[in-house]
Amino acid sequence: MAATRKDAAKLDAVDPLAQFRGEFDLPAGVIYLDGNSLGPPPRRALARLQQTADIEWRAGLIRSWNDAGWFDMPKRAGDKIARLIGANTGEVIVADSVSVNLFKIASALIARRRAPVLAVDADEFPTDGYILEGLAGLAGARLVRLKTPAIPSGVDVLVRSLVSYRSGAVADMRAVEKEASAKGAEVIWDLSHATGLINVDLRRNGARFAVGCGYKFLNGGPGAPAFAYIAREAAATLSQPLSGWMGHASPFDFSTDYRPAPDAARFASGTPPVLSLSALDAALDLFEGVAPPTLEAKARALGDLFLDICEPLGLETISPPAGMRRGGQIAFVHENGFPIMQALIARGVIGDFRAPNLMRFGFSPLFLSYSDVFEAAEAFAEVLKSEAWRAPEYARRGAVT
Ligand SMILES: Cc1ncc(COP(=O)(O)O)c(C=O)c1O
Repeated sequence: MAATRKDAAKLDAVDPLAQFRGEFDLPAGVIYLDGNSLGPPPRRALARLQQTADIEWRAGLIRSWNDAGWFDMPKRAGDKIARLIGANTGEVIVADSVSVNLFKIASALIARRRAPVLAVDADEFPTDGYILEGLAGLAGARLVRLKTPAIPSGVDVLVRSLVSYRSGAVADMRAVEKEASAKGAEVIWDLSHATGLINVDLRRNGARFAVGCGYKFLNGGPGAPAFAYIAREAAATLSQPLSGWMGHASPFDFSTDYRPAPDAARFASGTPPVLSLSALDAALDLFEGVAPPTLEAKARALGDLFLDICEPLGLETISPPAGMRRGGQIAFVHENGFPIMQALIARGVIGDFRAPNLMRFGFSPLFLSYSDVFEAAEAFAEVLKSEAWRAPEYARRGAVT
């Protein structure tokens, strides 16, 4: 029998993360199932933005680079992320976007190689493939788009998401690293849908390179900077091509010679975006004392509950079923997915749509309750049964879906 409202309330009563709900400034009447795309604002991030703008920038002026710790923030925030992904201090730097960080790491890995081979999964998030395509053109490399998870021989660099942005399926990092190492390939993990959500454990699984978003489950705000992880032993030997002054060992020497920082910091390029970085830095403090396995367990339980309640709707899903490891989202396939999602959003349940036919629902463990998930599933069922989505206003598409 499908779970009831009472069952959901019982799960809420024993939820070890329940107290985090109050940390977020969520609008009344909204059940937000899109934290996998853009996390909502933690109150402390909003407060920090105000402080950075009003006090540090307005009153502190340029002194704040030292006095407010702006200069070290990319490393400090990187160290906070390192704890969440099983990396060490100095192995993560916050900088740029996922796209740019991918370019820098992949370029460094194929530098001076003759006719290198890059690989990406055919259903990977498009920017990853676009970046490799651009790099291939620049470096005389060949790009292979993989239709199956196996790594063909001859691949030098593989880019792979740990959690699929479409289905929420989780790759077996240890097995992929083992296969890559046997075939002489390096893997750059895209952790965009994994960080702040699942137990990543990079070092224990033998991963040496990764990138990830700051604005999804990390709740850093729209356009928050991304991060790059480079294992300490690898960083010292790699030169990245966007060798700007912020990756220099000592930028304020103003030396004409480029001398890269010894660790992941050499993957920084230009001046960090202090305002948005400060929001991310504050948002990261929310995770202090929270163990990634606790986040993963709740995200999965929320998703399992949603699947259970939605089962009678008979929808097709591409996401892992209850009982299997899953990231933070569930995707249903429906040819009218776009207007259905719009009708749901009009009822205050916010998910998103990914072309051509996926309705995605995200289950962020820090601010969602089991009761939220129950109410969202009920609203979803109502929209489908009433066919309210057929109203013409739900067919209008904006630039962002
Ligand atoms: C898997 C994945 N990689 C990369 C990105 C975006 O990267 P960027 O920071 O370059 O916009 C996203 C955005 O949704 C994503 O889901």
